[in-house]
Amino acid sequence: MELMTAAEIDARYHFACEVAQAAANRAYGFYQQRNQLEVEHKGSDLQDVVSIADRTVEELARSLIAERFPADDFLGEESGGGNEQARCTWVVDPIDGTSCFLNGLHNWCVSIGVIVNGEPVIGVVYDPNHRELFRARAGQGAFVNDAPMRVHSGQHVRDGVMGVGTSHRVTPETFVPFISALLHQGGMFIRNGSGALMTAWVAAGRLIGYYEPHMNAWDSLPGIVLVREAGGITNDFLSDHGLINGNLVLMANNRVYQQLTGLITQKVT
Ligand code: IPD
Ligand code: CA
Ligand code: CA
Repeated sequence: MELMTAAEIDARYHFACEVAQAAANRAYGFYQQRNQLEVEHKGSDLQDVVSIADRTVEELARSLIAERFPADDFLGEESGGGNEQARCTWVVDPIDGTSCFLNGLHNWCVSIGVIVNGEPVIGVVYDPNHRELFRARAGQGAFVNDAPMRVHSGQHVRDGVMGVGTSHRVTPETFVPFISALLHQGGMFIRNGSGALMTAWVAAGRLIGYYEPHMNAWDSLPGIVLVREAGGITNDFLSDHGLINGNLVLMANNRVYQQLTGLITQKVT
C-alpha cells in the first residue's frame, strides 16, 4: 500500500475540521426545529433513534469528502461502507448523541476520524452547543479550539470522574459490574449520551477516563486519536476487525488505565 506523506495527512486534518463544523452547522439548524422531526427507530431497540437530520448531515459530510478526496474510502453510521484494506478511510458519525439531540439535551456532536494505512491518525469532534472543536493529528498534539489538551493527572479512579457508556448491543451484565467495582474504589461516573463527546472530554482532562463495553468505529476513533495525543492510552480498538464490528473502549492516563483493566469483566486487547 502506498504510504501517505505528512502533507497529504495535514490536508485531510484541516479539511476534517472544516467538514465537522459545516456538518454541525447543518445539524444545528435541524436541532433548532427538532419538534418537527419524525423520530424513527433502528430495528427493535426503542432507545436507538434516528431522524432525517442524521441522514442529511451524513450525506453532506460524505459529499464534501468525496469531492475533495475522491479516492478515499468512507464509513458512516447511516450509510455504511468501510474497507479494512483501504489506504485512507474517513469514519463519520453525523450526530453522536442522537437521543440527546431529539430530546433537546445539549449533549451531541459531529464525530470524524481518519485511518491511514490501518492506523487512526486524525480525530475531530465538534460540539456546536459549546462551540468547542476538539482536534488531533498523530504526532502533533491535541487541542480544544486552540488550547492544548492533556489527560487528567489523577493517579487513582477516585481522583476524578469517569465517563461511561453502554447500549443494548451488550447485556446489562457486561456493564453493570463495572459500576459496582468503580464505586467500591471510591470512584464516580457520568453518562452524558454522547460517547464521542465524552472521549473528547477525557483528552481535555475533564474526565479521568472512559469505558464502554461496545462502541462503533464512528463513535470511538476520533477520541482514540485525541486521547493518545493528549498523553493518554487506549486499547487497540481496530484489533479483531473493530472498524467493521466495533469493540470495547477503554482510555485514561497510564496509571488509571492499568487500574481500570482490573475493574472491567471484559478482556482488553
Ligand atoms: C451512541 C452514543 C452513546 C453510546 C452508544 C452510541 P448515537 O451513539 O454515543 O453515548 O453509549 O454506544 O451508539 O446513537 O447517539 O449516534
Ligand atoms: Ca454514535
Ligand atoms: Ca449517530
